[in-house]
Amino acid sequence: MTRHFLTLLDISPGEFRDIIRRAGELKRLRQQGSIVETLKHKVLAMIFEKSSTRTRVSFEAGMTQLGGAAMFLSPRDTQLGRGEPIEDTARVLSRMVDCVMIRTFDHENVERFAAHSQVPVINGLTDLVHPCQLLADMQTFFEHRGDIQGRTVTWVGDGNNMCHSYINAARQLDFKLNIACPEGYDPDPQILAAAGERCAIIRDPMEAAAGADLVVTDVWASMGQEEEQKQREQAFAGYQVTAQLMAQADEQALFMHCLPAHRGEEVAAEVIDAPGAVVWEEAENRLHAQKALLEFLLT
Ligand code: CP
Ligand code: NVA
Repeated sequence: MTRHFLTLLDISPGEFRDIIRRAGELKRLRQQGSIVETLKHKVLAMIFEKSSTRTRVSFEAGMTQLGGAAMFLSPRDTQLGRGEPIEDTARVLSRMVDCVMIRTFDHENVERFAAHSQVPVINGLTDLVHPCQLLADMQTFFEHRGDIQGRTVTWVGDGNNMCHSYINAARQLDFKLNIACPEGYDPDPQILAAAGERCAIIRDPMEAAAGADLVVTDVWASMGQEEEQKQREQAFAGYQVTAQLMAQADEQALFMHCLPAHRGEEVAAEVIDAPGAVVWEEAENRLHAQKALLEFLLT
């Protein structure tokens, strides 16, 4: 049966941990200069309906490093942009390539694509979730602090796609998640409820950060919400990750951000640019974690 990776719930907690472990292995092998060609001659098609730096480069570099290839497809110059149905595109592409990655708006689009694809489909971000980012974030936490089970994570900001993936990760890896979001910007109530008591909304970011092992934030206005920027700046005032907020967390607390970041909005420069910040390694781990994911889906 074709496995897809549309949300973190498409893999089991054991598989999640296996991917993190393999990601670490692939990282070490690359650092040693070893060539690992487990995906020789495999082809990944990447459909981007939204901008990307990290996702595009990590998937493309990752496929090349594993002996395969990746192709970038933009709706601007494919028939998708001229209205060819997603289902037909899925049927055709999946007869030619070994895997498809999609970044789009409506989550339903990746579901429709996957339903008509013969090959694994990877969600490279939708308005609903961003599961690939969580593979890298969890790899980064495990590397620096060990297993995240039973630890406390604080989400500060919008109840958006990244927040939803943190909720799903809390479910899968069994950590506590305090969500500090302003009223009106809550995560999806169903996604939240499914995670049970380990995830809770705590409006006050200082209170939510108390004793946290990891503090995470993301932009106030996601891709597609650009026209809400001004209104969101007002709503999210007080939801900036500052040094003062980090001081509420555990002494050893890590700070993460999927990037791109807006210094002076969701995060203060002193936090993201602090010596020892793991955000750049978090970004690098997109490469290793997705290589492990590709191996998992394709071999
Ligand atoms: N974090 C992330 O997905 O970055 P890009 O938008 O640059 O791919
Ligand atoms: N929430 C952000 C994440 C970017 C990687 C967005 O959807 O734009």
